[in-house]
Amino acid sequence: MLKVGLIGCGSIGTVLARAIEKGLVKGVVLGAVFDISRENAERLTAILSVKPFIAPDFESFLAQPIDIVIEAASQEAVAAYGEQILQAQKDLMIMSVGALLQNGLLERLEQAAQKYGCKIYIPSGAIAGIDAIKAASLAGLDEVVITTRKPPAGLKGAPYLNEKGINLDKITTPTIIYEGPAAEAVRAFPANVNVAAVLSLAGIGKWQTRVRVIADPTINTNQHEIRAKGKFGEMCCITKNFPCPDNPKTSYLAALAAIKTLERIASVLRLGT
Ligand SMILES: NC(=O)c1ccc[n+]([C@@H]2O[C@H](COP(=O)([O-])OP(=O)(O)OC[C@H]3O[C@@H](n4cnc5c(N)ncnc54)[C@H](O)[C@@H]3O)[C@@H](O)[C@H]2O)c1
Repeated sequence: MLKVGLIGCGSIGTVLARAIEKGLVKGVVLGAVFDISRENAERLTAILSVKPFIAPDFESFLAQPIDIVIEAASQEAVAAYGEQILQAQKDLMIMSVGALLQNGLLERLEQAAQKYGCKIYIPSGAIAGIDAIKAASLAGLDEVVITTRKPPAGLKGAPYLNEKGINLDKITTPTIIYEGPAAEAVRAFPANVNVAAVLSLAGIGKWQTRVRVIADPTINTNQHEIRAKGKFGEMCCITKNFPCPDNPKTSYLAALAAIKTLERIASVLRLGT
């Protein structure tokens, strides 16, 4: 049995924990959870019939006999705990992927994983097309652009809006609020453009991957359109995601992608690129 530890008991954590409990992922058990909000950890465990250990702090979480830690919390959590998890010889799955593009964190985590013999898993998240981008990058990509379109409520709280004095309540038509490289987009919208971070890691990197964020009051899904050109040809891939029931910022597909990645880790079969 693969023992999972979960950091972050919000939308993604809840979908994931329920999937494990329902037996959707064979050979996996949820051993421990940790959340800076004890209330959120307790709310999650209350709906589970097999109760994981609720860790009162990160140290006691890490001391649990778990094989893999799933981070479904925040960029801060990846920065604060990532290296310690790998040093404790536990594999790590990261959902707050934007953290990896900042302050050399990806390089530090890769070094730690190498040194302690662990793996780092990054699910495709809320987008399709990562398989093709990975393969296409081998021959050379000339251009990768992602346009993320969200209802204004799904962008609330992004630091960039304050910096630029953008009032989402006043947006009545689809409006481009950001255009720039993925490297800057993940700071500007830490909870919204993890998909751009995944895309840049799979393709041509954080400075060359271009990101456009559109606040669109006419839609009720989170939409991502990826356009890429290179020696392989051209691709265009659009995903229209329903949000998780309790968090308009998070696409349901992101949680499903985490579950599927976990299944791949626990399974003997590897499907897809
Ligand atoms: N890769 C993707 O495609 C993708 C898609 C959607 C969301 N995400 C990211 O995944 C993460 C989780 O998303 P969510 O919708 O479940 O968020 P959420 O806000 O519903 O839940 C996050 C939970 O993590 C806890 N938390 C935050 N920081 C923490 C820390 N430092 N230590 C311990 N607990 C902490 C919070 O208290 C909360 O309970 C977010 O960072 C989000 O941006 C990634």
